[in-house]
Amino acid sequence: MKTVITYGTFDLFHEGHYNILKRAKALGDYLIVGVTTENYDASRGKLNVVEPLMDRIEHVKGSGFADKVIIEDYVGQKIEDIQKYHVDTFVIGSDWLGKFDYLKEYCDVVYLERTKGVSSTLKRAEEFQIIRMGIVGSGRIAGRFIAEARYVSGIHVEGVYNPHSESAREFAKVHELDMYEDDYDAFLKKVNAVYIASPHETHYEYAKKALEYKKNVLVEKPMVLRKEEAEELFRLAEDNGCILMEAIKTAYAPGFMRLVNMAKSGLIGEIKDVEACFTKLTGDNTREFMDKEYGGSFTELASYTVLPIIKILGCNYRNIVFNYYNVHNGLDGYTKAIFDYAEATGTSKTGLKVKSEGQLIISGTRGYIRVAAPWWKPTEFEICYEDISQNEKVYAPFKGDGLRYEISDFVSQVNGYGGDVFKLTQEESVTIAGIMERFLMEHRKRIK
Ligand code: CTP
Repeated sequence: MKTVITYGTFDLFHEGHYNILKRAKALGDYLIVGVTTENYDASRGKLNVVEPLMDRIEHVKGSGFADKVIIEDYVGQKIEDIQKYHVDTFVIGSDWLGKFDYLKEYCDVVYLERTKGVSSTLKRAEEFQIIRMGIVGSGRIAGRFIAEARYVSGIHVEGVYNPHSESAREFAKVHELDMYEDDYDAFLKKVNAVYIASPHETHYEYAKKALEYKKNVLVEKPMVLRKEEAEELFRLAEDNGCILMEAIKTAYAPGFMRLVNMAKSGLIGEIKDVEACFTKLTGDNTREFMDKEYGGSFTELASYTVLPIIKILGCNYRNIVFNYYNVHNGLDGYTKAIFDYAEATGTSKTGLKVKSEGQLIISGTRGYIRVAAPWWKPTEFEICYEDISQNEKVYAPFKGDGLRYEISDFVSQVNGYGGDVFKLTQEESVTIAGIMERFLMEHRKRIK
């Protein structure tokens, strides 16, 4: 009996997939088809796969050519599968020509001509309108967004808005954007979604107006600095049938979701403490320190440190105590916020003028999870126990600057698939806005 194997994502199953399975089967007696997991696709940068794994498997089975379907979850697995299933022939489309020659050591490798004019990428483009994104603000993060958006299909950055025409023009030139505007209304008419990356305190007005124009909105963190504003924006988004999403990149990173879920699975017992620290030494002449009203360590960095606390311990804390060290202009150079929960405690440490060990530690009654800096871009974490021989390391993908994950989830939400809302819920964004508001209120009162 001759065994043939082939692999693919098989998203939105199409004629090209059908043809390759048919021809693969004809090359032998028994066909094994490997279908990629979401996790594997994310790790190799294939974002925006529309259909869940089980649906993709069903379609492969539905073709009637597969005698066995297996799941492909990591680079190099093909070598293992070929040996395990005594495969005679490996088949793949001609788009991969030469890429799998290393398998010739184990079996025959056949590249079959691709079916012309059809692909999952094309089908996704046909099915969903390309999101024409406009960027509000032209700072550092806006530039990074453009670079990262190139890794996500279904979205195109159209142009930039800045009330200072010269800054907008310069940014558009550097990033090769066709459009720049200093008139917000005119700008909104040219796009169907916006990414708001302007100074914190301007987010609310920009987001509100964009939603009134029925545009989908992705807002940099902190989304807003008042709880009521967050609630109002979410209401407006719902009323106008738009997506409103807060861009805390960590929330959408594959590794972060995994560590939160592992922590909550009972692996380390009942969770009693979540401690998160993020410090980044910054000069006095930066936006973070020039903005005397809304700048400082907490507003700048606490969206990151508060995130694991509320994701794991919930939004219903009993109290927060803020302790801080203020610098010459009255802004907090370092803030330690202690969260009191009925059954646990949380600590957020943020610093722009104090350097500390930036780690995330989740402590439970049986063990703890440790994520070293930069835990906000998690690539690995360790589960630790009293008996250190039981310790275990977990690895996760995190590519580039990592904005691609939130961008990809934004695209899925706008297109109405993916169900990624749980990664950062409305309640969580509203809670973070409330915490920012409380910090600013208390901090102002105390420095007066
Ligand atoms: N394939 C093919 N003809 C096509 C499209 C895909 O023969 N028109 C083959 C690929 O070469 C591969 C298999 O089908 O062997 C699974 O490919 P997959 O990556 O799932 O499909 P694509 O349509 O190429 O997906 P995408 O556009 O997302 O890259």
